[in-house]
Order: sequence, then structure tokens, then C-alpha cells
Amino acid sequence: MKVEGKTYRTIWFENNIVKIIDQTKLPHQFVIKDLKTVKDSINAIKTMEVRGAPLIGATAAYGLVLSILEKNDQSFLKRSSEELIQARPTAINLRWAVERMMKKLSGINSNENLKLAITEAKAIVEEDVNFCKNIGINGLKIIEEISNKKKDTVNILTHCNAGWLATIDWGTATSPIYHAHQKGIKVHVWVDETRPRNQGANLTSFELNEEKIPNTIITDNAGGILMQRGQVDMCIVGTDRTLSNGDVCNKIGTYLKALAAKDNNVPFYVALPSSTIDWELKDHTQIPIEERNSEELSHVEGVDKENKIRKVRIYPQKSKVMNLSFDVTPAKFVSGLITEKGICEASKKGLKDLFK
Ligand code: MRU
Repeated sequence: MKVEGKTYRTIWFENNIVKIIDQTKLPHQFVIKDLKTVKDSINAIKTMEVRGAPLIGATAAYGLVLSILEKNDQSFLKRSSEELIQARPTAINLRWAVERMMKKLSGINSNENLKLAITEAKAIVEEDVNFCKNIGINGLKIIEEISNKKKDTVNILTHCNAGWLATIDWGTATSPIYHAHQKGIKVHVWVDETRPRNQGANLTSFELNEEKIPNTIITDNAGGILMQRGQVDMCIVGTDRTLSNGDVCNKIGTYLKALAAKDNNVPFYVALPSSTIDWELKDHTQIPIEERNSEELSHVEGVDKENKIRKVRIYPQKSKVMNLSFDVTPAKFVSGLITEKGICEASKKGLKDLFK
């Protein structure tokens, strides 16, 4: 998608270096950063220079390429893979991408390893672009239907950033929106700010602005009243891990939005590539929920009058703080799952029928 009119992807490989857009600097600065070692990749995932389930998967895949470039040896590769998986616990794409890479690379002699790793990492990236594009084509039908009925702008609420910045291109939740906009359907997006890191305000609104899609940032608590007032036609969110029974784990606050949507008969859709489905875990209480550092809550970052990025504390120094990063929305509150293969019911049967 575009930044200042120029088309970008979120990650690419050039002259044995992995290039990323440093998302900790957005929206104030657009910085392209080089990752040269596997440690750089682990650090980029941990510090959220790259974030979003599909993108951290792709960064981990390229992290293994960098690991081979550093030291082409199986035990170093294995250690790198373990450290990459541990960089963030909740999004399943990270483990999925590393395991997919390791399946290709384990036990392969050093002459072939690098070529194989680059090919597989590129395949993961291209596959995600295609998946996200198809999520858009499939989700477009829902927006089109609402637009035909309403004959007016379709108001869509989204949470966090499940946009192109969370993937390689297109995004998951935003892909149907981009497709609708490109088709000339009038859309307006309510963007949840998404405390504490403000991925909605800093990233989703930024990318929608760059694509000239009307959007309004709201506080995380405003969605309920907007739904009561009939100002939300549908919600679309992303997910970091969807269980085979249709339960959806996503950025903290998603669950409360789904509850409000249910109470107000607002359709609540979740968009995801199949790489985000955890076919093994049966019970959502077993999903490791990331708990991040308290400073993300107690401090805020922004630019001052001189356009310098500054961080300030906003909480009492003595207060205890808890920073849970994800929650689970039970399948019964999800109107449908928008995937690369089509739209299905959020249930064991729905997912099974689609992904036989
Ligand atoms: O903590 P983050 O910013 O990585 O969380 C991202 C989300 O919760 C997204 O909704 C999710 O990864 C969807 S992926 C397109």
C-alpha cells in the first residue's frame, strides 16, 4: 500500500539485509531500518518495531535467513528458531512460520541451506500477500451488501491495527475496506485508539489517511455509544490466534467491542489468513496471553512543538499497573470469519468445511 504516494511492503530482503518499516516511529517519522542479524530480528519483534501476527511471522522467517548468513550451522539455527518463537507468545503465526522454515532446513547441508531459507521466507511473504488480497475480495461482498441496502456511507469500526502494517500488504481487517474503497463504495472507518500502544491511532489511521480513506479516531470506550446511536454498520477486526472452535484471540479490548456489537445487533466480523488458525489448542484458557511492561501504560509518547519525539509519565509514580495485551472473544459473538478461502461461521464445523 502507499505512503506519500509511494508503494511499500512492510518487509523485504535486499543484498542479504532485511528491511523493515520501524513502526515504533510511526506516525511521526517514516524510518526504514536494516536487520542484519538474527538478534536484530528478535529485537525488532520484541520491541514491536514490527508487529501484527502475519508480519512477525515473516520477520521470524527472514530472521532464520539472517541466522544462516551469520553462522551456517544446525545448532545455531535451532537456537535461533527457539529464541524467535519466544520473542512474543500470543500470535500463532510466529511459531507457524518458524516451524515451517525449520521443516525445510533441519538436517540440510550448509551448501543448500541459505538458498532454501531465502526461497521459503519469500514464499511465506508472497503467500501472505495473496491471502490478504483474497480476504479483501471475500470481505468486500459484505460491505457491498450493506452499501446496497443502506445507499449511504458504510461505517466500519476496527480495533488495533490489522492493516497492511500488521501484514506484508493489504492487511486483514482493512483489506475488505481497501477493496471497497477501490471499487468506489463509500466507507468511513471508526478507528479505536487502542491503548496502551495506540496502534489504531498511530498505525491504522495513518495508513487509511495515506490511502485517502475517511476515518475518525475514537477512544476505546466510544464504540458502545456509537453502536447505540446506529453509527456503526459493522465491525471488522483481526486476530492473533483463532482456535478451531472459532474463538478469537486479539488485541485487548476486542472482546468488549464484540459484546457491545451483540447487544446492538451490529455484525462483528473477524478477518484472518489460515496461518492464524491454531488447530491444536482446544481451550482458549490455554492461549498464552502476553503481558507487556507497565511503562507502556504509565507513559505516553508523542511529538513536542519542535517535532521531537518525547516520552512522559502520566500515572502516579506509586501506582501498580497491569498490562495484558490480548483477550479472547468467544465464537458465539463472532458473525463470521473472513478468510482467504471464503467466509465461514466461527465454529468447528465452519472452519472444518472451509479448510478440509
Ligand atoms: O500487539 P500487536 O500490535 O502485534 O497486536 C496486533 C493485533 O492485535 C492485530 O489485530 C492482529 O495482529 C491482527 S493481524 C493482521
